[in-house]
Amino acid sequence: MALIENKLAPQALSILDLFAMKQADEKISCLTAYDASFSLLVDQAGIDIILVGDSLGMVVQGKATTVPVSIDEMVYHSRCVTHVRKRAFVISDLPFLSYSSIDLALINAAKLMQQGGAQMVKLEGAHASIIESLVNFGVPVCGHLGLLPQSINQLGKYKIQGKNDQDAEKIMDDAKQIEQAGASLLVLECVPSGLAAKISKQLKIPVIGIGAGLACDGQVLVLYDMLGISLGERPKFSKNFMETATDIAGAISQFHQSVKQSEFPTFDHSYS
Ligand code: KIV
Repeated sequence: MALIENKLAPQALSILDLFAMKQADEKISCLTAYDASFSLLVDQAGIDIILVGDSLGMVVQGKATTVPVSIDEMVYHSRCVTHVRKRAFVISDLPFLSYSSIDLALINAAKLMQQGGAQMVKLEGAHASIIESLVNFGVPVCGHLGLLPQSINQLGKYKIQGKNDQDAEKIMDDAKQIEQAGASLLVLECVPSGLAAKISKQLKIPVIGIGAGLACDGQVLVLYDMLGISLGERPKFSKNFMETATDIAGAISQFHQSVKQSEFPTFDHSYS
């Protein structure tokens, strides 16, 4: 019997497309978005992944950290984004303490996927048993290691992680554990380029860097940082693409091309 073409199937990229990009050495581009208008612009520029990040607490809501963001807010912004995008794969953040037990993680992942339309959820830290449970129930998971913004009240300030051998080893071990637990993707934030390169090479799953150097399988930036409209100081690892573009669509397109051609991040946007 001939395969029936599913006319209702969405045109969005799948996790298989992202794996194929890693295997083909094609860099993966990723930007955050939190609303329909930016979602459309980012999608139309060809960005591979839209991350509905809990960074929305800082750049949209004007809060000092991501800690106050609620699951209902994440669902609302996820829905705004997924409602209009056509091609980009969409990941939504599980916010602070919304995955502190297996039951909570399952309930909140269901909200992000069923109400928000997310294709994958992201959670911070090496929580192997939580990841395993989500994956067992069919929830694709993106891990997040290195700088963990939800732990800012423990860290004291946003700073590079994994600088000494012991910390670097721990991040490497955690990355392997997250992959073993069944995660399909890993975000590495603010770690030395050399460490990120080793992790990207050793893991089979795509590793998306932010302040983690050029050797990662893909790059993510907070949209408002790369458009130069963030409220605070732009981090060293980000770049204002509006400085060389005539409009927002052009800036997003420049970011996409720079990632695909391995021209971003440069040495200046990386840590050693
Ligand atoms: O919330 C977010 O935007 C993120 C990125 C910094 C990776 O998690």
